Amino acid sequence: MLIDGFGRRINYIRVSVTERCNFRCQYCMPEKPFSWVPKENLLSFEELFLFLKVAIDEGVDKIRITGGEPLLRADLDKFIKMINDYKSGLDIAITTNGYLLKGTAKRLKDAGLKRLNISLDSLDAKTAKLIAQKDVLANVLEGIEEALSVGLKIKINMVPLKGINDKDIISLLEYSKKRGMQIRFIEYMENIHANKKIKGMYGKEIIDEIRKKYIVKKIGREGSSPAFMYELEDGYKFGIIDPHKHDFCESCNRIRLTAEGHLIPCLYFDEALSIAEAVKKGDIEAASEVLREVLKNKPEKNRWDENPPEQELSSRAFYQTGG
Ligand code: 5AD
Ligand code: SF4
Repeated sequence: MLIDGFGRRINYIRVSVTERCNFRCQYCMPEKPFSWVPKENLLSFEELFLFLKVAIDEGVDKIRITGGEPLLRADLDKFIKMINDYKSGLDIAITTNGYLLKGTAKRLKDAGLKRLNISLDSLDAKTAKLIAQKDVLANVLEGIEEALSVGLKIKINMVPLKGINDKDIISLLEYSKKRGMQIRFIEYMENIHANKKIKGMYGKEIIDEIRKKYIVKKIGREGSSPAFMYELEDGYKFGIIDPHKHDFCESCNRIRLTAEGHLIPCLYFDEALSIAEAVKKGDIEAASEVLREVLKNKPEKNRWDENPPEQELSSRAFYQTGG
């Protein structure tokens, strides 16, 4: 079992398989980054899998594949199958923008994928285009229908931005509810890669918007999830992720692995150790040593507080660590 220096049990790994993306979301990477990590620095699926086996043997049972946009990486279904074949019953999920889901959802499901988190910021094609800087809506909606039809469970992620998609909060809530998908509204987290002009909404403002039409009951946090849950009168549950107000450090159960093999103990924390050398040599003992070292160094709390957005913006790139 993996226990960190503060007694937290770590059973969840988020693996970014690429930092590249086919969208340029204003809150994430409005322009192509100055330089991408060269493709040859990316770990192969076999190398990533070698590390995941070490982690699974130690009790990790939840794996989320992220990006950038993970579906850009060819043969992602084969990677999922490798993981799924290694141990049954693992909770394997993907966070995606959904653009490439159409035509691939069934393959992913057959490979062992259980769940998808899909970013969807508006149901209005123009607004979706304004945010992603690409005409994306039709493909994403078709991808969602297809994924639902093959039996994948979906959560929708929306980042409400003032004056841009704040008008879409209710329609996205209703769209998600109608399809049995949970929606989570995520406070925009300021960072140096985003468009300087955009302004996010606080959790309270998002709830106030929903209360204009619905009676909303507070529920609370469930397990290690960062989302604070709310309920409509008919029992439909949705979440708010509000890092400006709450941190989730006490119940944190996760670590992150980047596409080039940096093992990151915590968001907003620059120290990372690399597993690249170990997995390239096929050295399981060395990979396991890096994992233990990173867990030992996992900080008690994130450094968001030390980094007030007004003074110094976080340099964290969501497209490297997949949110
Ligand atoms: N603030 C909040 N959420 C973000 N995401 C990406 N960038 C940001 C940001 N600056 C979210 C997207 C996506 C997930 C991968 O991360 O909504 O669903
Ligand atoms: Fe791509 Fe996701 Fe970043 Fe948008 S938020 S640019 S879809 S990685």
